[in-house]
Amino acid sequence: MKTKLCLLYGGKSAEHNVSLQTAKAVIGALDLNKFDIHPIFISTEGEWMKGPQLNAPVKDVKELQFNNGEEISPNALSTSISSSEKGEGYDMIFPLLHGPNGEDGTVQGMLELLNLPYVGNGVLASSAGMDKVIMKNLFAQAGIPQVNYTWFIRSTWKANEEQAYESVEKEIGYPCFVKPANLGSSVGISKCSSRDELAKAFQEAFQFDRKIIIEEGVKAREIEIGVLGNDQPQCSVPGEIVPKTDFYDYKSKYEDGDTALIIPAEVEEDVADKMKEIAIQSFKALDCSGLVRADFFLTEDGRIYMNEVNTMPGFTPYSMFPLLWKHTGVDYPTLIGKLVDLGLERYQEKQTIKHTM
Ligand SMILES: Nc1ncnc2c1ncn2[C@@H]1O[C@H](COP(=O)(O)OP(=O)(O)O)[C@@H](O)[C@H]1O
Ligand SMILES: [Mg+2]
Repeated sequence: MKTKLCLLYGGKSAEHNVSLQTAKAVIGALDLNKFDIHPIFISTEGEWMKGPQLNAPVKDVKELQFNNGEEISPNALSTSISSSEKGEGYDMIFPLLHGPNGEDGTVQGMLELLNLPYVGNGVLASSAGMDKVIMKNLFAQAGIPQVNYTWFIRSTWKANEEQAYESVEKEIGYPCFVKPANLGSSVGISKCSSRDELAKAFQEAFQFDRKIIIEEGVKAREIEIGVLGNDQPQCSVPGEIVPKTDFYDYKSKYEDGDTALIIPAEVEEDVADKMKEIAIQSFKALDCSGLVRADFFLTEDGRIYMNEVNTMPGFTPYSMFPLLWKHTGVDYPTLIGKLVDLGLERYQEKQTIKHTM
């Protein structure tokens, strides 16, 4: 029996195009003797378009953009549960979506309501991981080392802007980073070294969210670790990101494409071990499942800070997460298979839970 795998990709997000590249790569890597591939393309407007079952890899992402396809309502997926016994539904959903409306628990919540098995993190981990303030508060409670931070909601800032800037200067100082709480891909993020820049950075970040975070800026290397598993998560080797720009901004992530990835990262073994320990602690602090990429800062004097976790990290074969696993001995097709198995394991466990006395 082949696994009927539904791929969800595209999406109403700044990372729409990355998601298309991911879908193309995942389709190319899937063993067609084991999987039937059912694509669902989500347009930048948020419409869900069902495409025909795919029986071969695609050459171009254009083949995956069913702009004139059959538009379906997301909850049309629900019919797949009742029909799966009849061989019509899906056995597993793989959301290949990044950022808001995909990586933030919204799609996961819908899949939970429909009782559909899916790959990756659940509602809680996805939404907590998307909100940098909530994530950092949970990490702080777990004793995970982080840079100093503070946050504001728009109305507090509007009520007294000067007071907001003063408190940032007092609590955090310069240089600092100002970020929308719920975004990703470095959108709306600024580095500030003066009151003037701080005011501009607030204006900018508040365009993207009603909540922003302000962090102490550190001069540090950026090291990342992949975590894979459910109750017994495992770590990959660490990798280092070396952006050409001052920091790893939107342009260096998606436009230049020449940011260097060094795998394995050249760090002392005790540093790598400590990071792995923190990566697992972070995974557990957010109650993650399936996968996360844990991103660290490593300062010149050897201090390790957790920066963030990504609950659906970049997933093309050239992205950090799959490359980390490749260097750890898990190639791309095997990684995809493991993620599907982990999703199924979590789903089956959930089916054993009693809902009434
Ligand atoms: N506190 C900080 N100190 C130094 N650099 C930072 C800090 N916060 C962010 N950066 C830089 O900005 C980049 C993007 O920030 P990050 O918090 O990872 O946001 P995103 O979720 O968009 O990836 C980081 O990869 C790093 O280069
Ligand atoms: Mg980041």
